[in-house]
Amino acid sequence: MMLQAAGGSSGIGKCIAIECYKQGAFITLVARNEERLLQAKKEIEKHCINDKQVVLCISVDVSQDYSQVENVIKQKLMSINYLGSVYPSRAVITTMKERRVKPYNVYVTVAYPPDTDTPGFAEENKTKPLETRLISETTSICTPEQVAKQIVKDAIQGNFNSSVGSDGYMLSSLTCGMSPVTSITEGLQQVVTMGLFRMISLFYLGSFDNIIRRCMIERAKYGTADKTA
Ligand SMILES: NC(=O)c1ccc[n+]([C@@H]2O[C@H](COP(=O)([O-])OP(=O)(O)OC[C@H]3O[C@@H](n4cnc5c(N)ncnc54)[C@H](OP(=O)(O)O)[C@@H]3O)[C@@H](O)[C@H]2O)c1
Repeated sequence: MMLQAAGGSSGIGKCIAIECYKQGAFITLVARNEERLLQAKKEIEKHCINDKQVVLCISVDVSQDYSQVENVIKQKLMSINYLGSVYPSRAVITTMKERRVKPYNVYVTVAYPPDTDTPGFAEENKTKPLETRLISETTSICTPEQVAKQIVKDAIQGNFNSSVGSDGYMLSSLTCGMSPVTSITEGLQQVVTMGLFRMISLFYLGSFDNIIRRCMIERAKYGTADKTA
């Protein structure tokens, strides 16, 4: 197994890399900060199951132009004679752009992570409006290990959707639209549960509206909604 984990130096991405490494995968970590990449590499290497496994780090900003990102990754892989892996990864990227990946035996898994206890989540919480924070608090927070395990399991099984817990399952069913299914059973489950889940989602939306209304009233009263926290 070969994994290229973008965002692999922290949080969910790092835990996905660890999960794959534990199963014998070769890992390429992609992120911007080189120091954090090296720290993550050391952490991942502790889970090695055979002496042939490699953790490679590539420092690149993936929000740049596609060809620049491709060049950096290609050069890095070629510089260490890792050419074999350039072609599989290129095939994944190009065929994904063409949206015709199935004949190439390439599967795409779309993950719906719940609120997950990561450095990124902690950073985001510092600037979240109170309304968003209160809505987030209506569900429990997951560990990145738990989320990574589920994503890797779904990806290995070729599942299009990957979700954690009952809320995640409901959300992925409600938003399945024209997404592909892995089995007839999965499609039938979506057809049967769609109406019920939509009904439940209306109660959720009602309670979210209440939170927002309460914050608005508090703001009007005190000039700040923080009294509701
Ligand atoms: N945690 C949650 O509750 C949650 C819930 C739903 C969805 N998500 C999504 O899941 C993803 C991972 O979240 P997380 O909480 O695990 O985040 P995290 O702990 O902040 O980790 C983000 C990783 O992405 C890398 N990264 C960020 N920008 C990059 C860029 N432009 N180019 C290359 N690498 C970049 C970071 O390293 P550098 O900064 O060094 O580049 C780091 O390795 C995010 O897309 C997030 O929106 C998270």
